[in-house]
Amino acid sequence: MFYSDELVEEIRSKNDIVDVVSRYVKIQKKGNSYFGLCPFHNEKSPSFSVSPNKQMFYCFGCGAGGNVYTFVMKYENYTFQEAMKLLADKAGVALPEVEYSEEAKKAQNKRNLLLEINKEAAKYFYYQLRAKQGENGMNYLKGRQLSDETMQKFGLGYANMSADDLCLYLKKKGYEDQLIIEAGLGTHDEKRGLHDKFWNRVMFPISDVNHRVIGFGGRVMGDAKPKYLNSPETSIFDKSRNLYGLNHARSSRRPYIILCEGYMDVISMHQAGFDCAVASLGTAFTSGQATLLKRYDKDIILAYDSDGAGTNAALRAIEILREVDLVGKVLNLKPHKDPDEFIKAEGMEAFEKRIAEAENSFFFEVRILSEKYRLDDPEEKTRFLTEVAKKILNFSEDVKRDSYIDAISDKYNVRNESLKKLVREYAAKAGDVQTAYKVKSGIQSKPNPEENKKKPQKLFLTYLVDHPKLYSKVKKYVSEDDFTEDIYKQVARRLFEDLGNGIVNPAGIINMFDDEEAHKEVSALFNTELAYLDTVQEEEKAFHDILYALKKNSLDYHNSMLGSDVEALAKVIKGKKDLEEISKIHISLED
Ligand code: UTP
Ligand code: MN
Repeated sequence: MFYSDELVEEIRSKNDIVDVVSRYVKIQKKGNSYFGLCPFHNEKSPSFSVSPNKQMFYCFGCGAGGNVYTFVMKYENYTFQEAMKLLADKAGVALPEVEYSEEAKKAQNKRNLLLEINKEAAKYFYYQLRAKQGENGMNYLKGRQLSDETMQKFGLGYANMSADDLCLYLKKKGYEDQLIIEAGLGTHDEKRGLHDKFWNRVMFPISDVNHRVIGFGGRVMGDAKPKYLNSPETSIFDKSRNLYGLNHARSSRRPYIILCEGYMDVISMHQAGFDCAVASLGTAFTSGQATLLKRYDKDIILAYDSDGAGTNAALRAIEILREVDLVGKVLNLKPHKDPDEFIKAEGMEAFEKRIAEAENSFFFEVRILSEKYRLDDPEEKTRFLTEVAKKILNFSEDVKRDSYIDAISDKYNVRNESLKKLVREYAAKAGDVQTAYKVKSGIQSKPNPEENKKKPQKLFLTYLVDHPKLYSKVKKYVSEDDFTEDIYKQVARRLFEDLGNGIVNPAGIINMFDDEEAHKEVSALFNTELAYLDTVQEEEKAFHDILYALKKNSLDYHNSMLGSDVEALAKVIKGKKDLEEISKIHISLED
């Protein structure tokens, strides 16, 4: 982290979380908290809560949680530094120049230079397209029915006929040959020296999610090859972790994301109102891109070319999406080749209709598979169904597996029982009886014992945050040593220290941690759902039970450490004494 803890905390405290969150999410007051639909997962009833007292958000549905920084980082896909900048600006706090190490400075400098030079080039291309010398480019794009507004939204440009005008322009601006080459805007050879890489092409700037140009795709205006030239990968342009159009699609209100193959497809869909379209960058869809999409937790609608190559690419994309647990659906564009041609030929309403009819990706896979077999031949049909059974086996949930068996047996006209048997047989053969159709013992699976140990620790911390006055009554019994998880220990230490000084600041405690997972875990600690109890007596009993369980758990833990931890014995002795005392006392929730 580059900024001081004090500054991080100052900016956090100047940005009320209710105020910030309500700019993005509709929330309503209920009791002490605000509730709304969680922006981080799909839900129909609100389980996303924002607590003005704790200055934290927490979703009881998906577990997302944290303070105002976590929220901005997660919602905007910002780094911590970027979130800090946004919130500092909002609060009118000036950020000091950050202190980088020499090495970090160099790397940062290079990144900044690459961002700058790409921006300069984008501006240059943009200007050329709209000037006299860009007429051909403009006519080409107009011929493809793009409006001025669309061209502007995507920053489209034109690379001139002349061989080195961009390079000359960039050099005049002070950029070195080496950087121009590294950014992929120019190349060098003996005959011509430094000259432009893009020449007589319409230019598509490629932006990261924060609208910063990181590279280009350039298209010829005729049939010459290659059709598109793309910038090379640089430290700012990672083709496997960016998606064309995501800078716009990220703020789309549509409940899905459309994934397609081409720059022109993305642009065409946006122009037709499908502002949720994105494309990979001249390479196949990658798992890094799937992870990027996962942040938005929406279904992914695949709009790949309807030819054989497109179908194969879609099949691969489906698998990659499945690995990160995203639901994919496949759009049927036939009889047209790609989304761009479909929309031109049939219009946006027809496209909307195709979206509503998009095919479940498993059905799509099975259908493509079925085309390899002659299903009127019993031998071939059996082979086909065996392949399907294999695929069905990949679903780990029984319910899902059964539903697919039902659906597939309907679709392909086979008795449900027969397909089920096939799946079961195949499972046995594959030695996978563990996951599929395991003989049920009838005994309820035991709740996770690790979770059982953590529960009182979480409940205890939530109680203290909700009722800070309790701390003085229990502080002689508890310490960070009563917590078994490393992160709980750190949180407890800091919380006890704060409470000792009369401070309750759970959102500040979150700042101690850098990564999103930790924010999530700490938020869960302070937002454990307390049983709803009617009377003060019941509440007091509940708290007493929690304290007792916490101490008992801690005693067991230290007991188990007697062999390996020299301090364990002392902790066990104190723990026993504490437990005895606790069992006798009454702790009042009132003063
Ligand atoms: P397509 O050939 O389907 O092009 O390539 P397209 O997007 O439909 O473009 P138009 O409509 O003919 O103008 C799909 C994507 O594959 C990459 C580009 O990202 C393109 O958008 N590609 C294609 C290249 O990188 N290089 C090429 O030579 C061709
Ligand atoms: Mn096309």
